[in-house]
Amino acid sequence: MDYGMPLIGDKFPEMTVQTTHGKLTLPQAFEGQWFILFSHPADFTPVCTTEFYAFQQRYPEFRKLNTELIGLSIDQVFSHIKWTEWISDNLDVEIEFPIIADHGQVAEKLGLVHPGAGSSTVRAVFFIDPKGTIRAILYYPAELGRNFDEILRMIKGFQVADSQKVAIPANWPNNELIGDRVIVPPASDVVSAKTRMDEYECYDWWLCHKPLEK
Ligand code: BEZ
Repeated sequence: MDYGMPLIGDKFPEMTVQTTHGKLTLPQAFEGQWFILFSHPADFTPVCTTEFYAFQQRYPEFRKLNTELIGLSIDQVFSHIKWTEWISDNLDVEIEFPIIADHGQVAEKLGLVHPGAGSSTVRAVFFIDPKGTIRAILYYPAELGRNFDEILRMIKGFQVADSQKVAIPANWPNNELIGDRVIVPPASDVVSAKTRMDEYECYDWWLCHKPLEK
């Protein structure tokens, strides 16, 4: 069956998965929390090992942001366990988040196997909000490890955008034009297009910005 890839704005498809922490039903298992589901091509591969190390290093920071992590590859649970034991023994890091042992069904539902990538999953990252809606999807090839600071920045950006009803500029919080300030959403009528120039700092009525609310 070809499900194609879910899109941003879709609800995360309901599924029960086998993980290193037992069976979990998604997205309910993380209801009320953000979660990041990320796939990697295979256990015991070098780039993936650096990625797991990097993700685990940032795990406490994700948890402070009410965000859980869950990995996935088309490998069996015993392989995930042996690999994370190797990481613990050799790199001195305990992988604390669950890893899905997929037989291919989850990969098919989420569009994780690229036709050019054989039978292993690409490096995909799904960002799911506390209501179970997919908010962003990143898709990387096997040869390029992900930037985990960017993944953390995206979670922070979503949380600020949602709570303060603003948009997040490029390279935030180090934007070249407005630093850590945020973008006021576009005017929706002629009157607010004029008044906003007095209310905010603006380059023009359609490019206004303001400081973050603390
Ligand atoms: C790696 O993680 O190193 C890797 C995995 C699959 C293909 C190429 C590299």
